[in-house]
Amino acid sequence: MTHSDGPAAVATPLSARKSSALKGRERVPGDKSISHRALILGALAVGETRITGLLEGEDVLNTAKAMQALGAQVARTGDFAWTVRGVGVAGFATPRNALDFGNSGTGCRLVMGAVAGCPIEATFDGDASLRSRPMRRIVDPLALMGARVTHSQEGGRLPMTLQGARDPLPIVYRTPVASAQIKSAVLLAGLSAPGTTTVIESEASRDHTELMLRHFGAQIVSEKEGVHGRKITLTGQPELRGANVVVPADPSSAAFPIVAALVVPGSDIVLTDVMTNPLRTGLFTTLREMGASIEESEVRGDAGEPMAQFRIRASKLHGVEVPPERAPSMIDEYLVLAVAASFAEGTTIMRGLQELRVKESDRLEATAAMLRVNGVKVEISGDDLIVEGNGRVAGGGLVATHMDHRIAMSALVMGLASEQPVTIDDTTFIATSFPDFIPMMQRLGAEFA
Ligand code: S3P
Repeated sequence: MTHSDGPAAVATPLSARKSSALKGRERVPGDKSISHRALILGALAVGETRITGLLEGEDVLNTAKAMQALGAQVARTGDFAWTVRGVGVAGFATPRNALDFGNSGTGCRLVMGAVAGCPIEATFDGDASLRSRPMRRIVDPLALMGARVTHSQEGGRLPMTLQGARDPLPIVYRTPVASAQIKSAVLLAGLSAPGTTTVIESEASRDHTELMLRHFGAQIVSEKEGVHGRKITLTGQPELRGANVVVPADPSSAAFPIVAALVVPGSDIVLTDVMTNPLRTGLFTTLREMGASIEESEVRGDAGEPMAQFRIRASKLHGVEVPPERAPSMIDEYLVLAVAASFAEGTTIMRGLQELRVKESDRLEATAAMLRVNGVKVEISGDDLIVEGNGRVAGGGLVATHMDHRIAMSALVMGLASEQPVTIDDTTFIATSFPDFIPMMQRLGAEFA
């Protein structure tokens, strides 16, 4: 395994310029959240798991390497087709080297949960972005279950060594923030605990872990809790059985061509197999409220995850107010929503964005900076972002991507419809989640230079 300790050795800048109408039909890569989970549950199951449509982005490939280092057999059998032979619940072996999760908070945090339920020690590491992100929110509940941090950097940051619990305790845990990563870490550790492990969240976060655990044979019940929350109860020590997983296209990746097609005049594109789990579709709801033409057809589902074909046509957008309770269902989409809001007429107010500050970068500041440098009026007020759209964007800015794939892709989308080109300082991190982004956008008609 390689270890990257900071920005890529050679940064690759790129500009996007005003393009003519985007046209075509594409499938964006597999969902990142589901891809990580398929590998992890495959590694904790007995027998063979066959995954099709896996996202072959760096984040997920790092999780695949970690599963192998922990004792599972992971093999690529074709394009986006992988098999995993698992070791069974609590069966991970002590890895020889530190596990390097690169840029990926999800891979790192979910695997921390899985390791916490095994009697082994593992060191977790990542790139400079991941090393700056908070990990206490994960290891605090894992400590209640019997795991121990034996080494970490100041503030509970990576690199960190975690000693898993010999006899994990089941807990009832109320998550302090709506986070599928925290919820999933506790549930994955809870697999090895006797009795039931319960996670209560006051706002529902994405439920892919719950759906996939059920698909692999675990007993797990999800009930409503309060107005927006959920209570999830997992029966521990199940025998997970290897399963087939079809990974639908990632709505968080689809968000980039969708917004591009909305803002580039005359565009009309189709995206196939887009996952439409309601806990992920806050962006589509918001864009429709703004006047976007997004049609869904051919709705179907696999392993509890619905998907549909999307047709997107360029639309005149207007500003809206996005309520804070919608944040968990579109937490990764505010950057590209801010791009759409810049091309809209009127004010868009996005409320309750505090979690954006602890993503791959401080996305609240980074979004404001991306807009400002391209001539858009924007303001951060507490945890809210306010964008004043006037139907056009001057562009001409150089956007700092801060090792964050979604800043890179959002800024390039902005440049496809702005008066002057938009340049990003580095395309490198796009490969973490959407390796084919640039050629796919070019096939649709996007102009980069
Ligand atoms: C993810 C959960 C979200 C999201 C991340 C993927 C997951 O993070 O931002 O990109 O797959 O569980 P939080 O749970 O920390 O909000």
